[in-house]
Amino acid sequence: MNSQLTNGTGIGLRLPHISETVATLPHVGWLEIHPENFLANPHATELLTELARHYPLSVHTVGISVGSVSGIDRTHLRRVCSLVDRVAPVFVSGHLAWSTHGGEYLNDLLPLPFNEEALDLIAAHIDEVQDALGRPYLIENPSSYVGFRTSTMSEAQFLTQLVTRTGCRLLCDVSNVYLSAHNMGYDSREYLDSLPADAIAELHLGGYTPEEDEAKPGSEVWIDTHAAAITDPVWDLYAYAIRRFGRRPTVIEWDNNIPPLATLLRQALRADEIVAGLSPETHPETHYAEAR
Ligand SMILES: [Fe+2]
Repeated sequence: MNSQLTNGTGIGLRLPHISETVATLPHVGWLEIHPENFLANPHATELLTELARHYPLSVHTVGISVGSVSGIDRTHLRRVCSLVDRVAPVFVSGHLAWSTHGGEYLNDLLPLPFNEEALDLIAAHIDEVQDALGRPYLIENPSSYVGFRTSTMSEAQFLTQLVTRTGCRLLCDVSNVYLSAHNMGYDSREYLDSLPADAIAELHLGGYTPEEDEAKPGSEVWIDTHAAAITDPVWDLYAYAIRRFGRRPTVIEWDNNIPPLATLLRQALRADEIVAGLSPETHPETHYAEAR
């Protein structure tokens, strides 16, 4: 375990909570931010710099777009690097997705086929990001709603190949695994079993929203909204993940219908209680390369 991250579960710090967090310095293990919320907001960046003196931080990007065939957004990457230099986070992470094409920014994390062509493209982009950062980048598994006929490997095989080719680490969003398994019809525990445990540097937990599946009347599609509390089956899957991977730094994500800060802190406490309730033998602090 990264020695800075032994004080428990962290929360995704969103702008509505930043003043309260600076004023009260709540007991929480660490804080994860989206750099996109800070790059054009000098006041928020000042507050974040203050928080960096009190908490380990993590920078979780949503705009670098390693899956874009037209290349990553290098201007955005340079801005992220300057924020990273300023706040010295323990991790820098992003998604297995694309969100830009030909200079157009699409406010979504869009899916990819899992095949050799995509692997070559994304591995090259991760190399470029890691060269710019001077450290391993963490790649997060997506929330999935559709598959591609052109895929030749599973998502877990694709992520494992990215680790082997680039030396990147993985951010395993346990909620994404749970809802993707429902949407795509696979077993969430088998998915976790097939990830390379040594490469898992961080875990995410967040809420999702069931909606009527218009393509299949009478059934539900589960949407990764980050707009609700974590459900009991996801807590159970989190305990399974800790048994499988060992204890890992964890962040609670809540981005829409944002509740009071105290609600997020209680969710973080519940994650700590789950880890504490597992016997030490089932959550060893297994070896993995430091992200810094
Ligand atoms: Fe996530």
